[in-house]
Amino acid sequence: MPAENLAKAPLRLGIAGLGTVGMGVIKIVQEKADLLALRTGRDVVISAVSARSKSKDRGFDLSGYAWEDDPVALAKRGDVDVFVELMGGDSGPAKTATEAALALGKDVVTANKALLAHHGQALAETAEANGAVLRFEAAVAGGIPVIKALTEGLAGNGITRIMGVMNGTCNYILTRMQATGQGYNALFDECARLGYLEADPQLDVGGIDAGHKLSLLASVAFGTKVNFAAVELEGIERISNDDIAHAADMGYKIKLLGVTQMSGRGLEQRMTPCLVPDTSPLGQLDGGTNMVVLEGDEVGQIVLRGAGAGMGPTASAVMSDILDIARGTRISTFGQPAATLVDAIPAVAATPAPYYLRLALIDKPGAMAKITSALGDAGVSIDQMRQYGQTDDADVAPVLIVTDPTPRSGLDAAIETMQATGVLVSDPVAIRIETV
Ligand SMILES: NC(=O)c1ccc[n+]([C@@H]2O[C@H](COP(=O)([O-])OP(=O)(O)OC[C@H]3O[C@@H](n4cnc5c(N)ncnc54)[C@H](OP(=O)(O)O)[C@@H]3O)[C@@H](O)[C@H]2O)c1
Repeated sequence: MPAENLAKAPLRLGIAGLGTVGMGVIKIVQEKADLLALRTGRDVVISAVSARSKSKDRGFDLSGYAWEDDPVALAKRGDVDVFVELMGGDSGPAKTATEAALALGKDVVTANKALLAHHGQALAETAEANGAVLRFEAAVAGGIPVIKALTEGLAGNGITRIMGVMNGTCNYILTRMQATGQGYNALFDECARLGYLEADPQLDVGGIDAGHKLSLLASVAFGTKVNFAAVELEGIERISNDDIAHAADMGYKIKLLGVTQMSGRGLEQRMTPCLVPDTSPLGQLDGGTNMVVLEGDEVGQIVLRGAGAGMGPTASAVMSDILDIARGTRISTFGQPAATLVDAIPAVAATPAPYYLRLALIDKPGAMAKITSALGDAGVSIDQMRQYGQTDDADVAPVLIVTDPTPRSGLDAAIETMQATGVLVSDPVAIRIETV
């Protein structure tokens, strides 16, 4: 221990969960002890750990730490100052042990987006009532320090919009669909083989995991209570290779994109497939990497890119919260006192945007005129239109349309009229184009 640290008591951790992230944290604490002490002015040590299996070989020496079978008992130990919750799950021991630690006034650091998306407000209130802090940098976009960017670096800004690609598995699938021409199902199976999918794959491909993260960002950005239930969610299952190829033809890439903004319409929170220009930073984000774009009224646009998961990146984010606590930096869970967070009115409609529309049209005279008049009657104007001659079915003419910015309700009205005319051979595909 460096001599100057002797005056300050060590910060004592209790780590519940010794999987990918938990072992990443233990690795940093063991291998970088001197660096952490120099940076915080005190030693950071581990008192006790907990997981399901005590006998599992985890590749690190854990013999110096007390073992608890029960994470709640770990949270309550007298020699634990900070309870580090790295088990996962929005209920069960992750919740009960976190509550137990906070009730005793102990600080908590977690990487658990599901827990916070469902119980963040109540947990933040419990933390504040007991003089504790609850931090969750690792829960959003893994190694990217986005919560810190919002609560500290951009604290002097009104946040106007946040966009993010925050599920690496979805971005991997969409990128590989474009690069290899393989279909969604084949790539889903590849991800399962490679271990890229959550135990419940819907959390990934259904956009739920990324939606949890978006709901936390919205709370920090807009001073609102976390409202995951109001996130408009749509996964990537319906994205076809045709759409990816046609979007590319028109200068776009398809991403599972989270967008949150506060407007006169209320709070918008969407995690849905979107087109973005292929020349934009979001459009150029390939593979499993994450990107978060923050827009502030003073700073303009900031782009953060990095690993959204994995042992090192996620443990790096957990450590940043632990080291803040070691230094005495105490920031409210969502950047302002929990009692001041307001119930945001969910926006009834999204901000108008251009849309990509793919239609399969009966190849007969007059069909196109019916489409353009359906759009015109609904007040939707056309920015670009392409008709493709080639198709296996000689009677079907694929048509692509990019609209000018329009409310979604206008587009839906136009689609309803088109369907009633009988010139479509299948349901149209409409995907929002996010202006980035
Ligand atoms: N992995 C990532 O890249 C990543 C990125 C960002 C956020 N996160 C979040 O970090 C958290 C941990 O993820 P992970 O990938 O490290 O999970 P993991 O590898 O599956 O590890 C989970 C750990 O928790 C322990 N555990 C599970 N249920 C328990 C229970 N009832 N009682 C005691 N211990 C229990 C497990 O014990 P055993 O080992 O004995 O089974 C295991 O050690 C999750 O909230 C996840 O969403 C993960």
